Formats: sequence, structure tokens, C-alpha cells
Amino acid sequence: MFQGFTSKSSSQDFIQPMSKPRLEGKVAIITGAASGIGEATARLFASNGATVVIADIQDELGTAVAASISPGKCSYKRCDVTDEKQVEETVNHVLRTHGRLDIMFSNAGVLGTAAPIMDVDMGELDRVMAVNVRGTAAAVKHAARAMVARGTRGSIICTASVASCRGGLGPPAYTASKHAVLGLVRAAAGELGQHGIRVNCVSPFGVATPLACGLKGMSPSKVEDACCAMANLKGVVLKTGHVAEAALFLASDESVFISGHNLVIDGGTTTVISSLQQLD
Ligand SMILES: NC(=O)c1ccc[n+]([C@@H]2O[C@H](COP(=O)([O-])OP(=O)(O)OC[C@H]3O[C@@H](n4cnc5c(N)ncnc54)[C@H](O)[C@@H]3O)[C@@H](O)[C@H]2O)c1
Repeated sequence: MFQGFTSKSSSQDFIQPMSKPRLEGKVAIITGAASGIGEATARLFASNGATVVIADIQDELGTAVAASISPGKCSYKRCDVTDEKQVEETVNHVLRTHGRLDIMFSNAGVLGTAAPIMDVDMGELDRVMAVNVRGTAAAVKHAARAMVARGTRGSIICTASVASCRGGLGPPAYTASKHAVLGLVRAAAGELGQHGIRVNCVSPFGVATPLACGLKGMSPSKVEDACCAMANLKGVVLKTGHVAEAALFLASDESVFISGHNLVIDGGTTTVISSLQQLD
């Protein structure tokens, strides 16, 4: 509990010690949760008391992940986020089944090919935009509609990337798409604050998931070695669980006055330039 703080409001305004699971009674949709960051977050949200619906296009994997978490607390629903109808139907399915929606974690994403700007394929750019930007816009739109209609003070979280705030950390189409995700988050936060709905991003540095390993066909350990060599903070290997912890913070009431924020999980890499140290 905060100390030394005076307020005209009642003592209920103070943060209470955590005595119950952080997401107890909350219902969450996580897109792209059959694998990687989304899967780790589905496990963490469920273990913190949430009921979780995994929305993905990998049916077998998604169903198996949901069953391994807990049939009562987690289920799988096919949802291709590039198709707005499927996103709307997923939200409606959750409302019918669980009666409410408190958390939308719009996390599904693709990296696309590593083509540099002079070789960018426009069809490929459209595909990356369709998943990362259209998919995010549809998820935020339909989650917000459901929350506003029911007066739910919900939390919407989108997975952007360190590529949302710097060039050179992903292929051009991917970088453009993640800048757009951050723009969507900021725009939505501005509009939805009046309804008590918070909208934030998590922006991870490199994590050895199928998405990251697929870019250059590298093994998870090679991806981790490459990321550790580039990272500012040494001695920690970024794992999906670290990103899930950041999403849990933004989903829970611990971040109750945080909205429009880009929570970068990069050990300071995008903030600092280590050129002075290199002169030593
Ligand atoms: N791994 C990293 O280094 C890294 C870094 C920064 C940001 N990210 C972002 O994290 C998010 C999750 O990626 P990940 O690294 O866990 O990769 P991942 O490949 O393990 O997971 C991505 C998931 O998204 C799903 N997906 C893809 N297209 C979809 C669609 N049209 N509809 C629904 N689901 C779809 C996939 O089936 C998969 O389960 C992505 O938005 C990615 O851009 C990843």
C-alpha cells in the first residue's frame, strides 16, 4: 500500500495488498495464442484466475494448448483475424458463453519475409498489414463495442514490437505495420478513456518463437544468442513468459490508470545508444 499519501477520497482509493488472483472473475480473448507469446500469456492469465479463449488459425495446436491449460478455464475458437466477421463472431461467442468480456489481448501477428525496401513485394506487404493492422483494428473495434455496450471497464492490450518505435529492427513491411499498431492503440485509448476502457501495447524485443525463428530459419538458441548480442541489458534471455508478465500487468487492476502506453520490453535497447561506451 502507498504510504504518506493524502487524498480527499476514501481509503478504498489505496491499492490493496494482493490477496486474490490478479484476474479473478475476468474473461479474456487472446488472439494468436496457439503458440509463442500468446500461449505463454494464456497460461499466465488462466493461472491468475481468468477464463481464457484462445483465438487462432492453428486448430489442432490451439485445441491442445487449451486442453493442457484446463478445459474449464480455457477453450479454443478458430478466428482468422484478417476476417472481421470471424473476429466479431469470436467476441459474440465469448459473450454468449461467458456473459462478459474484460480483456482483449490482440497478439496475432506475422513477420513476413526479410525483403529489404528495394525488393518489397506489395502482395506480401498487404498480407502483413492484413494480419497485423487490420486484425488489430478488428479486435480493438469489436472488443470495445462489447465493453461499451455492457459498461465493462475493460483492458485492451495489443502486441506491437520494438519495431513500433525504431527502424532497422524488422523488415520494412513489419516495421510499418507495428508503427500502425501503436497508432491504433493511441487513437483507441483517446476515444475509449471516457468509457473507462484502457488500451495499451506491449512491445517486445526478440523472443525465440516460431515467428522469430522462421525469418532466417534459425534455431531458438541461435535467435537467443543473436538477440542477447544486440541487447543493452546483459545476463537475461528474453522469454515469452517475460512478455506475458507485462501483459498480465496491463490486464490487471495494478495498471488501473495506465492507458495509451507502449510498454517496451527490451532491456533499454531502444532507449540507449552505447556508442560512448564503445570509445572506451
Ligand atoms: N517473437 C518476437 O521476437 C517478437 C518480437 C516483437 C513482437 N512480436 C509479436 O508478438 C506477437 C506474437 O508472435 P510470436 O512471436 O509469439 O509468434 P508465434 O508465431 O509463436 O505466434 C503467432 C500466432 O499468431 C497466429 N496467427 C497468425 N496469423 C493469424 C491470423 N490471421 N489469425 C489468427 N491468428 C493468427 C499464429 O497461428 C500463431 O499462433 C506477434 O504480433 C509478433 O509480431 C514478436
